[in-house]
Amino acid sequence: MSGYDYVENAMFGKSIFKNESTLYPEYVPPELPTREEEIARLAKNFRSLLGKEGSFSVNVAIIGHAGVGKTNLCKYTMKRFEEAANSRNINVKFLYYNCHSFRSKTAILRNILSEHFRIQSRGFSDEEILDMLVKRLTRENIRLVIGLDEANMLNSEDILSIFHAGEYFGSEQSMISTIIISRQIEWRSLLNVPLSGHIHDQIDVAGYQREKLLTILEYRAGMAIYPTAYTDETLSFIADICSSSQNARHGLEILYRSGKLSDLKNENFIDPEYIRAAKADVYPELRRDVFEELRIQELMAALGIARKLAVKGVTSTTVEDGYENYIVTCEEYEQDPRGRSTFRSALETLHKVGIIGKSVGPIEEGKRGRRATISTFDIPASVLVERIENILEKYESEKNRSLIDTNHSH
Ligand SMILES: Nc1ncnc2c1ncn2[C@@H]1O[C@H](COP(=O)(O)OP(=O)(O)OP(=O)(O)O)[C@@H](O)[C@H]1O
Ligand SMILES: [Mg+2]
Repeated sequence: MSGYDYVENAMFGKSIFKNESTLYPEYVPPELPTREEEIARLAKNFRSLLGKEGSFSVNVAIIGHAGVGKTNLCKYTMKRFEEAANSRNINVKFLYYNCHSFRSKTAILRNILSEHFRIQSRGFSDEEILDMLVKRLTRENIRLVIGLDEANMLNSEDILSIFHAGEYFGSEQSMISTIIISRQIEWRSLLNVPLSGHIHDQIDVAGYQREKLLTILEYRAGMAIYPTAYTDETLSFIADICSSSQNARHGLEILYRSGKLSDLKNENFIDPEYIRAAKADVYPELRRDVFEELRIQELMAALGIARKLAVKGVTSTTVEDGYENYIVTCEEYEQDPRGRSTFRSALETLHKVGIIGKSVGPIEEGKRGRRATISTFDIPASVLVERIENILEKYESEKNRSLIDTNHSH
């Protein structure tokens, strides 16, 4: 055995990162270079909230492809908007909801009431809850802006009724405004038609051209990584790769992963080789944190299907076969398998978040009706298996740790 201490080195050894957490998915940087116009436009939309004599509610949509900065644009602008209004004694409150985590109007309303107004709303209907909220907002003169990210996880009726709360409930003043955030395809296919009549402004966020990607990469690399670990060529190479997707997350993930590879190999420079390796491991349409928002039954369903599809030569499966694999997976992880309808709705969710694709196949000889087939989207099944197993492992060890913690406290 050598005297080299791998643990010590991993703990205290050198890293090319000076501030790694600024590349985590949830991090919103202090500036959003190249988005100045969109920031101004979004903020301007809510000027009507600032009127001393009554305000009226505003609904804005932020629409665009993956990784173009929709979520950041909303959080960045509205945080500053809220602060600027509050410092002038105008009571604006911005609340952000990711509808992957909060999947119904009811869940969102209850959370608003309990987390932000300390009102328990159990046992009340949605209408009663909305009524309580509007009364409270009116009494305290609060102008609420609700950001609904990944809005396609809700249905348009849910969103409409939140709009209506802003329009009808407050008889003197409308107190609820919204920002709907959605990717372009989902917006066109399921939200646009019923909602568009209520949207005051739709901000179409364009993809980033190469020059802009480079500006963003320079800014973010400067924040996260020691300057000795990369050169202009490093960033230029990454910008080349992600200019086809026009997706900033794509570039930032490659930067992050290639940096992690350099650390792993104990190098102090991001070699182009690591960038090529990282590139193969990044799926720009898929948010890195998407698996953490899935429920256990959905993870079981996804893993069952992914394992089936990871078998060589298998390109698609059916709901029936998928269900059988799901049961096997549940048994392995000691989860109670649910019925087919739960499984189907898990598939629905996995489809919505872009993990699996579904298509209706041709009618097969001797079988009744068409059979829906399931495949994976741009992420290979084997990678899907690996990522879900990692998440489940993480949950498992967290569970064990909390068990140990509770045992100790007894
Ligand atoms: N102008 C910018 N300056 C700096 N960083 C940016 C900019 N635009 C986007 N980013 C970064 O790129 C990543 C993707 O941005 P964001 O999550 O806002 O995209 P999105 O449009 O919401 O994507 P999705 O549709 O997948 O949710 C984030 O890490 C964000 O910090
Ligand atoms: Mg987003």
